[in-house]
Amino acid sequence: MISNPQFARFAATSLFLLAATACSDATSTPWPTATPELDAETEAFVDNVLQRMSLEQKVGQIIQAEIQHVSPEDVREFGLGSVLNGGGSFPGLDRRASIADWTALASRFQDASRQPMAEGLPVIPVLWGTDAVHGHNNVFGATIYPHNIGLGASRNTALVQAIARATAADVAATGIDWTFAPTLAVARDLRWGRAYESFSSNPELVTELGRAAVIGIQGPPGADWLGEARVLATAKHFVGDGGTHQGIDQGDTRLSEQRLAEIHGLPYGAALEAGAQTVMASFSSWNGRKLHGHDYLLTEILKERMGFDGFVIGDWNGHGQIPGCSVTDCLPALEAGVDMFMVPEDWREFRTTMLEHARNGRVPMDRLDDAVRRILRVKKRAGLFDGPTEGAAALPETQAHAALARRAVRESLVLLKNNDQVLPIDPGQRILIVGDGADDIGKQSGGWTLDWQGVTETNESFPNGQSIYQGIAEQVRRAGGQVHLGEAGAAEFDPDTVIVVVGEDPYAEGQGDVSTLEFQPGSREALDMLERLGALDAPIATVFLSGRPLWVNPELNRSDAFIAAWLPGTEGGGVADVVLADENGQVQHAPVGKLSFSWPAAPMPNPAGEFPTLFDFGFGLAYGEVPALGALPEDAMAPRAESTAEDADIVLFDGSASAPWRIMLRDAAAETLVDASGQIARTSGPAALTITPTDRKIQGDARRISWPGNTEDAVLLSTEESVDLRPLRDRSAAIAFDIRLESEPPHPISLAVECGESCAGSVALTDDLGTLPTREWQSVHVALKCFESAGADLSRVSSVFAMSADGPVELSLADIRIEPEGAGGATLGCDG
Ligand code: BGC
Ligand code: BGC
Repeated sequence: MISNPQFARFAATSLFLLAATACSDATSTPWPTATPELDAETEAFVDNVLQRMSLEQKVGQIIQAEIQHVSPEDVREFGLGSVLNGGGSFPGLDRRASIADWTALASRFQDASRQPMAEGLPVIPVLWGTDAVHGHNNVFGATIYPHNIGLGASRNTALVQAIARATAADVAATGIDWTFAPTLAVARDLRWGRAYESFSSNPELVTELGRAAVIGIQGPPGADWLGEARVLATAKHFVGDGGTHQGIDQGDTRLSEQRLAEIHGLPYGAALEAGAQTVMASFSSWNGRKLHGHDYLLTEILKERMGFDGFVIGDWNGHGQIPGCSVTDCLPALEAGVDMFMVPEDWREFRTTMLEHARNGRVPMDRLDDAVRRILRVKKRAGLFDGPTEGAAALPETQAHAALARRAVRESLVLLKNNDQVLPIDPGQRILIVGDGADDIGKQSGGWTLDWQGVTETNESFPNGQSIYQGIAEQVRRAGGQVHLGEAGAAEFDPDTVIVVVGEDPYAEGQGDVSTLEFQPGSREALDMLERLGALDAPIATVFLSGRPLWVNPELNRSDAFIAAWLPGTEGGGVADVVLADENGQVQHAPVGKLSFSWPAAPMPNPAGEFPTLFDFGFGLAYGEVPALGALPEDAMAPRAESTAEDADIVLFDGSASAPWRIMLRDAAAETLVDASGQIARTSGPAALTITPTDRKIQGDARRISWPGNTEDAVLLSTEESVDLRPLRDRSAAIAFDIRLESEPPHPISLAVECGESCAGSVALTDDLGTLPTREWQSVHVALKCFESAGADLSRVSSVFAMSADGPVELSLADIRIEPEGAGGATLGCDG
């Protein structure tokens, strides 16, 4: 555990660095360095393989494709270097895929890549990478640990190392060799949607915990390094991802090289020293230039100065963002130093253009060879040439992992307020638990949990998890107390103490960017609830779930005690361990978490661009020692948002469906609805309708939909309580969407508005769509009145969008909305 004297050390180092800034010159920028050790035997092996490779094999090795878009046969045919499963991508599109399903798919990829090659060409095993960023989080039933921000609050390097080790063991058990973790971002602006992936705003703390994570994932250099239950780690995202202007994801980090190195570069030295074998390039820019095209940072600094001898993996189509590049054609990124390209969907076209460049002498061959050599070196070190990663029948040590996660939850909690020593609570009492975070394992786990954006459905997605409510209820009942969940019946229950669990809903990456740090700006949802609960005259303890410190003065004022619980993951019981006393009224586990970011005293930055601080970095109360926290100013609160029902611009789907609508698949054969709020889903049967993510304007904002054969299956935006769309029809509104036809015509597609059982107005789009070009995004709309003339009762709409096709048809959809008829784009449907 990092104790107080060590905080002092962090502070001292920071001061030292600040002082150093003032007097150093540009040639001696403080990039940390590591001492790589090239092993002669490995190098000889790699050279031998490299010499025997064909050009096609070399180009194949620098490509990584996504498992929904690549088959084991493709890997064999094109000699691809790697595959990944993106966040929320599972074997067979099945979010409940078993460990056996994962292992079987891994073996198929392994076997395919290990088939003997013709003409003496070398056999090169494929690598599979996954985002196991807080546990093996794409796997149904796996233990989910607190996100990095919570681990940062624990400041416990041994704990971080143990979690990384346990996660690596889970990853290895599914036959996967590589995790895209740890994130070494030093988040400096909490408006960033990835702040929770960052351990801390303090570079030294990120360095210590990042080093521990790398050692836990790969094993300590020397003994057991990349051994059986270990996998490859990724130091990401190099460099400056956490420093972007206003915290905008994939934005621009504007800093001197000195500051870039000492703030954002620092953790990479320790990670490389600990043996991190891959580094992921950041989507972001440094002073206006994208990292994926930054030869100075990727090659001169990272590889030459810092001594990195593994390979640089590009981020998800990140190369496509370099000026002059596209996703399918980007030589400058290779030249700059990206060694392997993450081209999830479009890898075929990327391969074709790269090969063409190579055949026409446009690819610097030393650079290509260097990239391939680095990839082979890592594969050799990881033992891939010695035999495939053997998966297991089940995840290992699940109970021990759950216990570890629960301990991590306890150690990550930061006590911010505890007036009148409300905490810990006597479990023999009558305890009321309320708030939308109380009994929701998806919400308490945050983004990168089963789905990329996190889970928005029920606790059934977590067969082994425990919600915060469940954890508390278990202990209270055991102690003879009583618990009541929810506000209904609260007054009759007459609680002794109220526990409120509220916070942010899950998000990932740019979708979590915010413009203000106010919790629920323009809404009084949580506040109104706290005020209603205040009337019960029992002390209120708030457990706050969030991916970052937020401005919560109004909520703090209405709570007697307040705990920052971050995104604890599946072991909600860890909250009970701290919040509740034992049966004898003794503290079970004292709160030990300390803020690894400072907590804002205002929702917006001051003119200097800084957020004033309410609780300092390192703050965290212990039980018993506390002066009471007085009333805090609330005048910065945003006014309550006015309802905008007036205008006819309504977003229905922009990567996720807007309430009250939910995105579903109708499985005609099984007569069921399949939730499609995750990124991928499918109906049952051989010609199943499938839906997978794709990109329109930003990552993951679109869906690709495929009807391989004739089914009555449909993709729907539906709601349980019907909606009256007549006012919108009266204002001449239309259903508008962006569409990209992926298959050749004809496109026997129909779009309906549905109004409950056997009520629909369906419009055939086949002829109109036949006139649109394929593989290009188009904006189209169908007037609401068309659906009405086709039989829809607009007074009680149950599905605002119901698309079906007489397959085979494949298309992508984005930005489904309601807008005024004349707003632009092609008019489809009825005439006039
Ligand atoms: C993220 C990376 C992640 C990758 C693969 C990207 O969108 O930025 O952190 O490793 O996707 O899922
Ligand atoms: C990936 C993300 C990616 C997103 C975009 C997810 O599956 O993990 O990294 O940005 O898909 O579609």
